[in-house]
Amino acid sequence: MGYKVTIEQGSLEFSVNAQENLLNAALQAKINLPHGCKSGSCGACKCKVTHGDIELEEYNKIALSDDDIANNYILLCKASAHSDVILDIPGFTNGFPIKTMPSKIESIDKVGSVAILKLKLPANQIFEFYAGQYIDIIYEGKNRSYSIANSPTSKGIIELHIRYRQGGVFSEAAWQTLTINQILRFKGPMGNFTLQNTTKPALMVCTGTGFAPIKAILEQMIAENNQRELHLIWGNFTAEDFYLTEILPVWQNQLNLKVTLCTNDKTEGYYTGMVTDYIQESFNDLNQHEIYACGNPAMIENLYNIASSQLKLDKRNFYSDVFTPSI
Ligand code: FES
Repeated sequence: MGYKVTIEQGSLEFSVNAQENLLNAALQAKINLPHGCKSGSCGACKCKVTHGDIELEEYNKIALSDDDIANNYILLCKASAHSDVILDIPGFTNGFPIKTMPSKIESIDKVGSVAILKLKLPANQIFEFYAGQYIDIIYEGKNRSYSIANSPTSKGIIELHIRYRQGGVFSEAAWQTLTINQILRFKGPMGNFTLQNTTKPALMVCTGTGFAPIKAILEQMIAENNQRELHLIWGNFTAEDFYLTEILPVWQNQLNLKVTLCTNDKTEGYYTGMVTDYIQESFNDLNQHEIYACGNPAMIENLYNIASSQLKLDKRNFYSDVFTPSI
C-alpha cells in the first residue's frame, strides 16, 4: 500500500510503500533529502515527524537518542510509513536535481594506493552540485558512491579519489581495466556534507580518501576568498598513504588554514597516532567550533563521542560523511 509523504518546507511530496524506507523513496522521487551513511549511524537524515505513523528499524543511538524519539524525531533511512506522513526539515531546500548522466574518462592518475579519476561531462548538459556532495558510479549493474573531490568552480569535470581495494567492483576496474575516453554513467549529486554559512572556526577531520570532499570544500572556499579559521586534520595508516600533499602549502597561502597529518608510523613532521588522539590532546573546548568529518564509521563515531562529551562541542555543529566500503 502506498502513502503520501509531505515535506513542510517547500510543500514537496513523494509517495512511499510500506516496504521501503522514506529516504530511498525520496531519492527515487529525485528529492535529495539530507543523508549520509544510509545505515542509521550518522544522524544526517534525522528529522521531525509532525503527522503520521512511522516504524523504525534498528539504528545507532548516537544517531537518534531516546530524547529525540520522545520529541518525534526519526531517521529517514530507518523509517517506514504506516500512514500518510508530514515531515519538518528546517532549512531544507531540494538542492540541485539528481540526474543520471554519461561522462568520459579524461585521466586516471595513480598516486600510491589512490587512483585520481577525472571524468569529463557532456558539453551540452548541465550538472550542478555543492562542494562536499557525492555521486554514485553505475558500473556492471552496481552503484558505488564516491565524493566529488573538486569544487563546482572547475566546470565540466568531476574528480574522484579511489583507494585500491582488492576485489572491489569499481576499485579493481579503476586500477586494472578502465581506459581513457571510456564512458561511465553516474547518478548525482547526493548528500548534505556541505559547508555551513557561519564564521565559526572549523576542524576538517578526515581519514584516507575522506580527504576528497574536504578538498572540494576548501577549493570552494579559495574561490570565494573565505578566510574562516580552518584546521585540516588528516589521518592515514602510514606516511606513504597520503597523496596530493603538495597542494597543502598552496592552500595555506590562500586560506586561514593549519594542517596536521596523523599516522600510526613514527615519521618526522607527522603526528603519531589517530586523528582522535590528536584532537583529544590538542583541544579542550570546542564549544565555538564546527567539525566536518569524513572517513570510516568508527573514526566518526569516536570523534563525535569525544568532541560532544569531553570537548564541549555543540552536537548540532558536527557534520559528517561516513564511508562504508563496499566490495
Ligand atoms: S543515519 Fe540515516 S543517513 Fe546516516
